[in-house]
Amino acid sequence: MKKTISFLGLCILLLHLHITKGQAIVPMPVQIEKGSDDSVYISNRSVIVAKDAESKTAARLFSAYLQEHFSLDIPVVDDLFQQGMATNFWFTTTTNPDIPNEGYILDINKTGIKVEGQKGGVFYATQSLKQLLFFDANKKQYGFESWKITDYPRFAWRGMHLDVCRHFFPIEFVKKYIDLMAFYKMNTFHWHLTEDQGWRIQILQYPLLTEIGGTRKETMVEKIFKPYKGDGIPHTGFYTQEEIQSVVAYALERNVTIVPEIEMPGHSLAALAAYPELACSEGPFEVATTWGVFEDIYCPKEETFNFLENVLAEVCALFPGKYIHIGGDEAPKAAWKKSEVAQEVMKREGLKNEEELQSYFIRRIEKFVQSQGKSIIGWDEILEGGLAPNASVMSWRGEEGGIAAAKMGHDVVMTPGSHCYFDHYQGPKETEPLAIGGNTTLEKVYQYNPIPVSLNIEERTHILGAQANVWTEYLATPEQVEYMAYPRACALSEVLWSPVDKKDWSGFQERMKTQYILLKKMNVNARMK
Ligand code: ACM
Repeated sequence: MKKTISFLGLCILLLHLHITKGQAIVPMPVQIEKGSDDSVYISNRSVIVAKDAESKTAARLFSAYLQEHFSLDIPVVDDLFQQGMATNFWFTTTTNPDIPNEGYILDINKTGIKVEGQKGGVFYATQSLKQLLFFDANKKQYGFESWKITDYPRFAWRGMHLDVCRHFFPIEFVKKYIDLMAFYKMNTFHWHLTEDQGWRIQILQYPLLTEIGGTRKETMVEKIFKPYKGDGIPHTGFYTQEEIQSVVAYALERNVTIVPEIEMPGHSLAALAAYPELACSEGPFEVATTWGVFEDIYCPKEETFNFLENVLAEVCALFPGKYIHIGGDEAPKAAWKKSEVAQEVMKREGLKNEEELQSYFIRRIEKFVQSQGKSIIGWDEILEGGLAPNASVMSWRGEEGGIAAAKMGHDVVMTPGSHCYFDHYQGPKETEPLAIGGNTTLEKVYQYNPIPVSLNIEERTHILGAQANVWTEYLATPEQVEYMAYPRACALSEVLWSPVDKKDWSGFQERMKTQYILLKKMNVNARMK
């Protein structure tokens, strides 16, 4: 009986979607005005006219969405010589300097649905259109109210991270995750690919990284560290380079840049299990089965640099974006303190302590990454011992690292644990699934401002944006990841896209009512409490 009612409830919800007019766009556009015309209706006689390659791609994706979710068959055409009776879409990519980067102008009136967008902008206009579509129950037709929207982002880095190492997720889910972040106009996917608990990217020169490092023998049950309890189930998985290329192409079509992360010098046990000669102490090492920080890290030997450069050369060739994330966080120095090799490097290079040795390590890696035409970004620990000359900093231990880096003239992405760690609880512990800790509610995320007040106007230009991190120690399935990421990613999308003066917590909550329906339609296991 209960099941029947909730199914009925769902039907009513879905029906509600179809009759909803009004604007429920998330993130809130920069400027949105009601046009003077009546609503326009689309039908299977409508077409999308898209002349340039980028508009065509956006149009094809939009058309596929309308087909999949609404059974609307709206073809993409190069040109239209006869207007006919139907309402058509007109998409154009522009370099019009009046439209800021990634921005678009959307005009819906009786002459059609017109979009003009910068690179990425036409795609974003289609995301807004998905959120404006309504169903007229009397006419039995889908349509749009007359709106005029001018829209562009507040920040250039609108990021979502996913840890695929603590738990591995299939390529199809990675694509769904990217599709969804793009739906909310996020544009940077930070793919955390290597860890103590698993190495997840195929490297052709070092097959053991995935053969040995891609599998751990089991996983700790819940938080039963002491005495340890394992589940006895091997956990395995990695992405082939071909699969990675398919994700890169998928992301590119959705205006998403991928930032791959190859962790060093810490969080590297899976690599050491495969190639123990890269450690300071003698192995053998095991791919970790518990969570935390481990003492064995890469040793600063020539052999290690050679290995990392070979790995990074393959990584740089796979990912077209500017940044390679080199980790840098949570690298205990005990192994280097005990190591003759490490101590000799310090002497040779005139380094005062192990923090400076880490800085030397990262500088060398930066030099190599730059030789491949890329830049490095790392967690805020890379400030310790001296920041590499061109490095960007991801500030996770609060905002202090980010503030310090911006004051030094380095670019920064804010991802403080307090607001941006989506592995934290989002409600009372007693009523939520097991999580790592913390309490980061939807409202707390919404209230975040990535620009620290202590920065002056010049320093503020170094804050590229912010990002949510989704660490997966306690998230073993795609459904669990979705539950932690949504709706909090919706709140962050508004933090990163919408002008500060457009932010409105109660308005956001109101618009989220429609978003919950859309999330359900897209089969997303969002938290709906
Ligand atoms: C981190 O959460 N260790 C970057």
